[in-house]
Amino acid sequence: MSFIFEASRIAQSMLAPAGPHAARIESLWWLFFWISVAVFIGVVGFLGWALIRRGHLRVYPPAQVEDTEEHMRQLHIGVGAATVVAAILLFVLLIGSILTGESVGSMTGTGPTIEVTGLQWWWQVRYQDPTPANEVITANEIHIPVGQPVLLRLVARDVIHSLWIPELNGKTDLIPGQENRMWIQADHPGVFRGQCAEFCGLQHAHMGLIVVAEPPDQYNAWLAQQRKPAPEPTTDLTRHGREIFLSGPCPLCHQIQGTPAAGQVAPNLTHLASRQTIAAATAPNTPGHLGGWITDPQDLKPGNNMPSMSLSGGDLQALLAYLETLK
Ligand code: CUA
Repeated sequence: MSFIFEASRIAQSMLAPAGPHAARIESLWWLFFWISVAVFIGVVGFLGWALIRRGHLRVYPPAQVEDTEEHMRQLHIGVGAATVVAAILLFVLLIGSILTGESVGSMTGTGPTIEVTGLQWWWQVRYQDPTPANEVITANEIHIPVGQPVLLRLVARDVIHSLWIPELNGKTDLIPGQENRMWIQADHPGVFRGQCAEFCGLQHAHMGLIVVAEPPDQYNAWLAQQRKPAPEPTTDLTRHGREIFLSGPCPLCHQIQGTPAAGQVAPNLTHLASRQTIAAATAPNTPGHLGGWITDPQDLKPGNNMPSMSLSGGDLQALLAYLETLK
C-alpha cells in the first residue's frame, strides 16, 4: 500500500514521455526550444554588435552624404534578410506543429476503448463492452495495457475539463454535448498522473487522475476483477457497515453492484478499495482519509456535491470496514 503515497507524488512532465504520442509532442517542444534559443542568441548578438559599432563610430568625424546612402543600403539589406529568416523559421514551426498534430490525432490501434466523463469534480471511467454485463465503471483511475494504443472517448456532464496526462499525450477538452477523442499509449508499466488543465471552478486544482499502465495479463486480471459484483460482507462489523451504507443517503448517488445501491450521479464504489486515491487523486485511499472525507467532504474539496454524514464513531468504523472489503 506504500504505492499509494508514491502515486500522489508522481511528477508530471511532458519532457519524460512514456509513449509515442507524448514522444512526438516532446520532439516538437525541443524544435521550438532550440529555434527560440537560436533566435534569442541571434537577436542579442546583433544588438550587442550594433551597440559596439555605434560606440565605435562616435570617435570618427560625422559621416559624409555618400556614407549615409551606403548605410541606408546596408540597413535595407539587413532588415530584408532578417524578415526572410523570421518567415522561414515561423514556417518551419508551423509545419512541425501541423505534422505533430496529424500524427498524434490519427493513430489507430487494437487496444481498449474507454469513455471518460468529466463531472464536478471528478472523472468517471467506463470500459465499454459489447456485452452490457461486462461493462466496468470506475472513477478517477484509468488502467491500460502496456504497448497498446488506447482510445479515450471524452465527454462531460455538467462542466468543461481539459484532460492532460503529460507523459502520455497533450491536452484535450471534455465538453458537454460533444465527444472528443484522444489516443494514449504507454510503452512501459508505470503510474502516470493526469490533471485538469482548464479552469473549471472551485475544485479545478483538485481534478487529478491516475493512469496505471500494466502488462496485458495484469490488465486483464484487473478488468476481470472489476467486472465482479461487490463481495458479500462476512463479519458482523462489515454487515453492519453495509446496513449503514444502504440505510443512509449514500445509495441515492453511489452504486455498489450486487447491492440495491444504484445511484448514478457519484463515483461507482463497487471496487472502491482497489483504487489508490479518493476525491479525484486529492488524497490517498486510506481508512483515515476516507473517514475524514465521509464525515466532512467539504473540508477536503469545498464546493463538491457530497453532503456531510454525521455518524457515530462505531457506525463510521463499521462503514469504513465495509468499504475496505470492496476490493
Ligand atoms: Cu476541470 Cu479544471
